[in-house]
Amino acid sequence: MTARGGVPFVDLGLQYRQLAAEIRPVLDQALEASDYILGEAVARFEQEFASYIGVDHAIGVGTGLDALRLALTACGIAAGDEVILPANTFIATAFAVSAVGATPVLVDCDEHTHQIDPSLVEAAITSRTKAIIPVHLYGHPADMPVLGVLARKHGLTVIEDAAQAHGARLGGRMCGSFGDAGCFSFYPAKNLGAFGDGGIVVTRDAALAERLRQLRNYGQRAKNEHAMLGINSRLDTVQAVVLRVKLRHLDAWNASRARHAAHYASRLAASGLVLPATLEGADHVFHLYVVRSEQRDALRAHLDKAGIQTGVHYPVPIHLQAAYADLSRGRGSFPVAERLAQEILSLPMFPELAEEQIEMVCDAIARFGA
Ligand SMILES: Cc1ncc(COP(=O)(O)O)c(C=O)c1O
Repeated sequence: MTARGGVPFVDLGLQYRQLAAEIRPVLDQALEASDYILGEAVARFEQEFASYIGVDHAIGVGTGLDALRLALTACGIAAGDEVILPANTFIATAFAVSAVGATPVLVDCDEHTHQIDPSLVEAAITSRTKAIIPVHLYGHPADMPVLGVLARKHGLTVIEDAAQAHGARLGGRMCGSFGDAGCFSFYPAKNLGAFGDGGIVVTRDAALAERLRQLRNYGQRAKNEHAMLGINSRLDTVQAVVLRVKLRHLDAWNASRARHAAHYASRLAASGLVLPATLEGADHVFHLYVVRSEQRDALRAHLDKAGIQTGVHYPVPIHLQAAYADLSRGRGSFPVAERLAQEILSLPMFPELAEEQIEMVCDAIARFGA
């Protein structure tokens, strides 16, 4: 939905038109082959994605939420357990924990990187804590080395929520490859997006991978042999076909996003906005380009009038969502996450964004400041 003369937040139609000649023939072949469920393209994509992340196994599932909940189940997290996660994430991170009957335990975030604050994690650990879910929010890596040390010290499972971080690295190592399992979403607007829902879990652990393969497919060990209680959450063959094509473009797309981020940063340096910070050694893949302003709502309305679409990720932290009223963590519980929720604004960001469009956004921001 491009506003005439304006700038859309993302433009998936534009990306499709650029890829149509590559995607249509392979999609046609797959439709003819008609192995729609767990077809050959799924197995191939799983191998290719695992190798891209630098791990041995990848298990395609129906959504990013399912990737997280199945990873939790496969790691033995269940009712009575506590799982630590940041207060400022998409609701799915918390819902995955609740879906397996465990309790989400929220931790505030770092004011600069917006990632879970590792210095606050230890105080949240109790005798019931079984796992931690670092979220690589906006495509910026969470502080995995420090979180890894804490996890080892306390015997915690680490499940990375890399739904926004396809291709992000820290110290040269891919997000999703640090923990016991890494979970990705292929929601269409993600850095690697399908033509519908999709998700994947990656892991180095062969036994964990086998449990995940069974869990996603009715707990089946072999046809009509149901070894465990499973669900139906499989990556569609048709989506795998699309993702195989798109994976080949991911690094170039991420490089474009990084170029756009650098363009924004140079044009907005004197704008008075707080610009995204990047941890040393981090390769941020800018799923979102998030700035801060104390006048966020007025700035957003001003940009909207100029035909510039923006987003807020996310306006309400987890503990202030009605669904989590029973956590009894009222306003003031996570002050950094709460303040950021009032001030953050996501500017248009997608690989195909044109330089002139970035100029339009920055000009409009300058007019707001004037
Ligand atoms: C941080 C985060 N976690 C989990 C998810 C859930 O992914 P999905 O929408 O594919 O279920 C998303 C994206 O929607 C996300 O951004």
